[in-house]
Amino acid sequence: MKAIEAEKNWVSKKMLRAIFLVWLACTLIGIFCYKIFILAILCSILSSLSLILFLFMFYAHHKLSPKGGNFQSKVSALVTDKIETNASGRLLDIGCGSGILSVELAIKCPLLKINGIDYWGSMWGYAKEKCEKLAKDNNVSDQICFERASASSLPFEDESFDIVISNMVFHEVADVKDKKEVIKEALRVLKKGGLFVFQDLLLNKKLYGNREYLVQYVKDLNIESVSLTKTAEQLTIPRLLNCPMFFSDTALLSGKK
Ligand SMILES: C[S@@+](CC[C@H](N)C(=O)[O-])C[C@H]1O[C@@H](n2cnc3c(N)ncnc32)[C@H](O)[C@@H]1O
Repeated sequence: MKAIEAEKNWVSKKMLRAIFLVWLACTLIGIFCYKIFILAILCSILSSLSLILFLFMFYAHHKLSPKGGNFQSKVSALVTDKIETNASGRLLDIGCGSGILSVELAIKCPLLKINGIDYWGSMWGYAKEKCEKLAKDNNVSDQICFERASASSLPFEDESFDIVISNMVFHEVADVKDKKEVIKEALRVLKKGGLFVFQDLLLNKKLYGNREYLVQYVKDLNIESVSLTKTAEQLTIPRLLNCPMFFSDTALLSGKK
C-alpha cells in the first residue's frame, strides 16, 4: 500500500508543550518560593512527576513517528491490512481523524466508496477540511466523503455499509459510558455478511469488561464470526509503549456480521 505521511502524531507537539509548561511552572514556583517549605516540597514533587511524564511522552512521540520506528502506522496497518485490495461497496471509517486510513484504503482499494466520520474536536487538531485536502492531494476525492458526526449516534440507516472500520477511537467517545454500546452502534450500520475491523483499548476491563464477556456480547448482536486478538501479539511493540496508556490493552476485534 502506498504510504502516506501521517499528518498528526497521537502524542501531539501541543500535548508535549503543555506538559513541558507544567514542569517549568512547578520548577520556577519551587525555586522562587523555596522559603515556604510545604509549597517548595509540593512543587518539587510535581516538577519531578511532570518531568518523568514529559520524557516518557517525548519518547512515545518519537517511537510513533517515522523516525522512531513508525509504530503509529504499524499499529494502524493491522486494521487496513484486513481489507483486500479487491474489496468493493461502501466502507465506513469511524473516527477517521486526519483521514489517513480512509485515504490509504481509497488508494489501495479503487472499487471502494468510503465515508469517514469524526467529530473533529479541538483536542486532536484534525479537521474535515484537512481530510478533504489529503484526499485531493492523493487524487481520491471522488471515492471519499468526510462528514462531521459522532460514533455514538451514526447518521446512517441500519445495514448501510459492506465494511466498517475504526482505529483507536471508541475509548474516546465521551457521551457513552459503556463503550460496548459504541461497538453496537458501529455494527448496526454494517450489512449482514459485511466485514468489521475495530482496534481500540478492548482489553481494558473498565471500558469493555473481560475478554470472554466482550466476545459473547458481540456474538449476541447476531454476529456470524468474531475474533479478538491482542495487538502486541501481532507486532513487536517497544517495551515502554507496552503499557496501559498505549498498547498493552489494545486489541483488534474483527469478523463478519
Ligand atoms: C487516536 S485518534 C485516531 C484517529 C484515526 N482513527 C487514526 O487511526 O489515526 C482518535 C480520534 O477519535 C475521534 N473521536 C473521539 N470521540 C469521537 C466521537 N464521539 N465520534 C467520532 N469521533 C470521535 C477524535 O476526534 C480523533 O480523531
